[in-house]
Amino acid sequence: MDMEYRRLGKSGLKISALSFGAWVTFGQQIGEDVAGECMKAAYDAGANFFDNAEAYADGQAEAVMGNVLRKMGWNHDTFIVSSKVFWGGDKPTQEGLSRKHVFDSCHNALKRLQVDYLDLYFCHRPDPETPIEETVAAMSDLVRQGKVMYWGTSEWTPEQIREAYDCARRQNLVQPGMEQPQYNLLHRANLEKNLAPICRDYGLGTTIWSPLASGLLTGKYRNAIPGDTRISLPNYGWLKDRLTGPDAAAKKPVIDRLFQLAKGLGVSLAKLSLAWCLKNPNVSTVITGASRAEQVKENMTALEVVPLLTPDVMKQIDEIAPA
Ligand SMILES: NC(=O)c1ccc[n+]([C@@H]2O[C@H](COP(=O)([O-])OP(=O)(O)OC[C@H]3O[C@@H](n4cnc5c(N)ncnc54)[C@H](OP(=O)(O)O)[C@@H]3O)[C@@H](O)[C@H]2O)c1
Repeated sequence: MDMEYRRLGKSGLKISALSFGAWVTFGQQIGEDVAGECMKAAYDAGANFFDNAEAYADGQAEAVMGNVLRKMGWNHDTFIVSSKVFWGGDKPTQEGLSRKHVFDSCHNALKRLQVDYLDLYFCHRPDPETPIEETVAAMSDLVRQGKVMYWGTSEWTPEQIREAYDCARRQNLVQPGMEQPQYNLLHRANLEKNLAPICRDYGLGTTIWSPLASGLLTGKYRNAIPGDTRISLPNYGWLKDRLTGPDAAAKKPVIDRLFQLAKGLGVSLAKLSLAWCLKNPNVSTVITGASRAEQVKENMTALEVVPLLTPDVMKQIDEIAPA
């Protein structure tokens, strides 16, 4: 099935419904060769958006992605690349959303990604220590300088997003265009209840993350602890706890039932979970992650499963994994 392209909120930007991100994997779990194979598999399947952040592997994820983009030789007018600002380093000037750090982080990302501009640039988290006016003005200036095409937020509350819109409108600055929230079958409420009204009122786009809950929604942690996954990474004990600890055990009955539902439809739980995210009209793109090209190839076919999600199947899913 061909890739689908959606408008990023009310903007004119056409983003692929399935996209690919670098968190955990690039510069940590996989090297440049495998990262290149994954990005090529995504691009060949029609994905046009690659997600990144200054925080991922302390900037190494951007460096790896930049090298792959250069080696592939794709023209920048065929893909969308992002970065996010918030966690840039240990020094007081290297974190948060001050005007200085927003500018420094953007310039660092441009160098590491080896591009002339960022298509999407996100405030990775809200910063209570910087006035929102300062951040909105800095983002707006970067857009007007041509260094950023669209700016947005990640894991901001609806109130914070509304405040940013209102501030931009009042001061004739560039408004935010997208939010990057977590969204998956085990984490529904924020997008479906809190953000949906803003998508409607402001034409906010969403680039959703961890659609497989970091791998839980593949079903591979149901009966065993697989060794060849992100849980083996040093310094990611918290992620191991999330995937194999008491929290994961509490979710197991839900995952087991979803697994059986997917089996009955003749598809993998990974594809069912991605297709379910794609069904939400407020989702502009589902950012997938992968540690090998085979996973990318499987995930990029998730659009095939969307027609199987009939009203009856969606009702069953709502009953198993309610918002
Ligand atoms: N804005 C934010 O705060 C934020 C936070 C997190 C992520 N993100 C973005 O969202 C992207 C996706 O997040 P995520 O990596 O957590 O996504 P995810 O889709 O929930 O998990 C991806 C991981 O699941 C496993 N997997 C994927 N497809 C599989 C398949 N078909 N079969 C078996 N295992 C499979 C792989 O890990 P293993 O092979 O290691 O098991 C893969 O790396 C990130 O790269 C990043 O760009 C943003």
